[in-house]
Amino acid sequence: MANTKKQKTAPVIVLKDLKKRFGIGDAEHYAIDGIDLTIRKGEFIAIMGPSGCGKTTLLNILGLLDSKIEGEYDLEERPVASLSAARQARIRSQQIGFIFQSFNLISRLNVIDNVALPLVYKGTTRLNREKQASEILHNFHLGEREYYMPNQLSGGQTQRVAIARALVNNPSIILADEPTGNLDSQSSHIIMEELSDLHKRGNTIIMVTHNPRLTTYASRVITMLDGKIDTDTAVSKKRSDTSSKKPLGKSVAKAVKKRRKTKKEVTA
Ligand SMILES: Nc1ncnc2c1ncn2[C@@H]1O[C@H](COP(=O)(O)OP(=O)(O)O)[C@@H](O)[C@H]1O
Ligand SMILES: [Mg+2]
Repeated sequence: MANTKKQKTAPVIVLKDLKKRFGIGDAEHYAIDGIDLTIRKGEFIAIMGPSGCGKTTLLNILGLLDSKIEGEYDLEERPVASLSAARQARIRSQQIGFIFQSFNLISRLNVIDNVALPLVYKGTTRLNREKQASEILHNFHLGEREYYMPNQLSGGQTQRVAIARALVNNPSIILADEPTGNLDSQSSHIIMEELSDLHKRGNTIIMVTHNPRLTTYASRVITMLDGKIDTDTAVSKKRSDTSSKKPLGKSVAKAVKKRRKTKKEVTA
């Protein structure tokens, strides 16, 4: 748990005077307008800010989905913006887990095969793929849905399956763009508890959120304005200490278990 130690952990992401320009001529405008930022291993960062301030653009750059940038982006001490698309794709599939607000499952694959898909690209054996996919589905309270088809799931379940798929290969860096934006509060808590668990295991998490309550999970809160960092605040240990949230998380987990017992399934 590097993040709870006082000494600084290794930098995972270093940005120097990062800029991203959209449009040309009169329409030219900087969505990211000079960001200097160091993110260390094991940090859980919440990014907030008004709509249009550049949060999604920043996440896309961090996730190597957009490398037409100015300035510098070093990922684990290696400049990555100029790498070939194939090498960027490999880094993405091995190190980065993306959680978007809206997801697409593959409609002709059942739940467990959808979740296991990223492991195919990684070369994991079929047996291990199923094992890992099944394990994470259980963590998300979706164990009973393994063999359902996507069109048999509710919206909340679909999103949880997609998040399970994003996390199944245990990415060291997790980028989440309003991960609970479309979810009911119970599904949100399941997702946040999972993210919190990943954080405790030493993964680095960068999450965009509109919900100030979710920043209690973070170790650092960054606000953006007009493509720049406005504030950057380390969250005191007490607030980031997840034990302070345990009653909530536990009670939700208990409620879920109870419901599973009585209804045999969670119908979020
Ligand atoms: N593909 C694009 N083409 C042109 N402008 C874009 C594109 N993506 C984002 N922008 C602009 O960049 C700015 C930041 O957008 P975005 O990163 O989506 O903000 P946020 O996620 O904070 O709401 C906005 O002004 C938006 O219109
Ligand atoms: Mg956005």
